[in-house]
This record gives sequence, C-alpha cells and structure tokens, in this order.
Amino acid sequence: KHILVLHGPNLNMLGKREPQIYGKLSLRDINTALEKKACAAGFSLSTFQSNHEGALVDRVQEALGQIHGIIINPAAFTHTSVAIRDALLLHDLPLIEVHISNIHKREAFRSQSYISDIATGQIVGLGIRGYLLALDAMMAILTDKED
Ligand code: DQA
Repeated sequence: KHILVLHGPNLNMLGKREPQIYGKLSLRDINTALEKKACAAGFSLSTFQSNHEGALVDRVQEALGQIHGIIINPAAFTHTSVAIRDALLLHDLPLIEVHISNIHKREAFRSQSYISDIATGQIVGLGIRGYLLALDAMMAILTDKED
C-alpha cells in the first residue's frame, strides 16, 4: 500500500527556519525517516513539497487511484486554501493533518484550518515526531482496513 506525504510552503526550509519552533532537522531528514519506517513495515511512501498552491493541487490530483492514504502538512495553506481542501476531497482515503507546532497556541489565525474537518485526524504541537506518529497511525488504519 502506498502513502503520499505532502508538505506545504516554507517546509523546504526546515532546519533553518525558526528552529526554536520547527526544530533542527531538514525536510530531507524527515522524508528519509518516513521512507525507512514505511518500507520496514512493508508500505511504500512518496513525498512532495511545494511552495505553490497549484503544484500541491496538481500532485493531489495526479495521485487519484494511485495511493491509499495521505499525510499532509499544508503549512500556511492550512489557513487559506479552499483549493487544496477541494483537491483532497477528490479522494475518499484516510487523511492525516500534521502540524509541527501547536497551531492553537500561536496567532489566532493559525488555529483556523480548512483541512481539519475533512481529515481523519490531526496531530499538532509534537514537533517533527508528529510525522512519524502520523505514519504509525496511517499504517495501522490501512492494516485495519484490510482485515
Ligand atoms: C505549520 C503551522 C502553520 O501555521 C505555518 O504556516 C507553517 C507550519 C506547522 O507545521 O506547525 O508553515 O503548518
């Protein structure tokens, strides 16, 4: 089974960007850890990052019929993008929303998400560990679906 992990704008700067909030690891470190973990459990995983809303929409559309679950940190698009929400709605698949920081503890505009109410679940505020927890949850959900 194949899992797609999507990263929104500025997440390519992880490690350099506000490390007190987002940590010291790079996006490549995170993606490698996710790929390894998925592979060890018999899943396959692809990752995609873009700073462009339309590129994320395109990637979500391209994945139609090719994947079994989506993990997404839409970053700033979380709070703005009806287009990404609508693209995700094309799929009828488990969807986990991840935020590295606790979006409910920051500026008020960050606690608003266009994704939360269409997501299976959300992980916030646990640092980059959240991605690994999301992957664990996704693999468990997909395994449960099988039996
Ligand atoms: C973020 C939270 C967003 O508000 C912010 O715009 C980001 C990262 C997070 O992972 O904590 O870019 O999604």
